[in-house]
Amino acid sequence: MTRKVDAVERVGVVGAGTMGSGIAQVSAIAGYDVVMRDIETEYVENGFETIENSLGRQVESGAITESEAEAAEARIEGTTDLEDLADCDVVVEAALEDIDVKRDIFSDLDEVMNDEAVLATNTSTLSITTIAAATERPGSVLGLHFMNPVPVMKGVEVVNGEKTDGDVLEFAHAFAEDLGKETWESDDKPGFVTNRILMPWINEGIRAFDEGVATKEDIDSGMTLGTNVPMGPLELADHIGLDICLHASETLHEELGDRYTPAYLLKRKVEAGDLGKKTGEGFYIYD
Ligand code: 3HC
Repeated sequence: MTRKVDAVERVGVVGAGTMGSGIAQVSAIAGYDVVMRDIETEYVENGFETIENSLGRQVESGAITESEAEAAEARIEGTTDLEDLADCDVVVEAALEDIDVKRDIFSDLDEVMNDEAVLATNTSTLSITTIAAATERPGSVLGLHFMNPVPVMKGVEVVNGEKTDGDVLEFAHAFAEDLGKETWESDDKPGFVTNRILMPWINEGIRAFDEGVATKEDIDSGMTLGTNVPMGPLELADHIGLDICLHASETLHEELGDRYTPAYLLKRKVEAGDLGKKTGEGFYIYD
């Protein structure tokens, strides 16, 4: 079976959080009809609010027109019922970063979706192969790892599971490109390319701060001015969410050993409930 991007009409997104709503937004801007599903109406509504704010920023910056923003929003349908995704040609799952939750979702999608549908997960570190094994069609499952903020970041990581079919991989590259993104490919190994390299960098930045190498501002300036990245490790950790960084680091540590040990201060911040920008405080304080 050969999947063609030209044949895609409807895109399903599971999860209406930061990543899911971003994926719904870029899919709608690309002209697809989108069904965005979360488990509670309130989460779906929050997803629409995030989309409206983000579309507003894009209109303000001139990236899209007001009427393009309105048309994109109108193409997105919200739901709490997974069965409403049944007609979608491709589904991107962006729910909780928990292997059991993801396996349950994929097992349910396996029941609901037609045979040709491509089932992608936006997981940042979990095994595509383990998620795919919850279905009877592991060849149709792969990783499509978007970056935060999805509407702005150009890159999408395509992850090849043990059983992913070649045409599904090809489809995924073409689909992401149709969303205006550029892709690279990773084998299904912990953290793929990005988080395998990014998480130790963030943890080392946190350790450098905790061990008194420099102030947090100087660590971030050292890396932004010194290596031309847009954000230093502490600011980026706040942007991603400290809970997400900790969870990704723990998965890497479990799979790859001690060189991936999470920074102590990262754990302490998460335990204190300071998760970064989203809670108003992480390494920095936000209004
Ligand atoms: N929606 C729409 N537009 C947005 C936006 C959003 N959520 N956030 C920012 N923008 C737009 C702004 O409107 C602005 O547009 P303009 O230049 O046309 O006026 C542009 O993006 C730049 O935004 P700002 O001027 O507010 O701020 P910055 O120049 O600092 O850019 C940033 C913000 C794009 C977030 C930039 O700091 C950046 O690239 N940071 C690094 C982000 C990063 O590395 N993300 C990947 C994290 S790793 C990951 O996601 C993987 C996961 O598994 C952990």
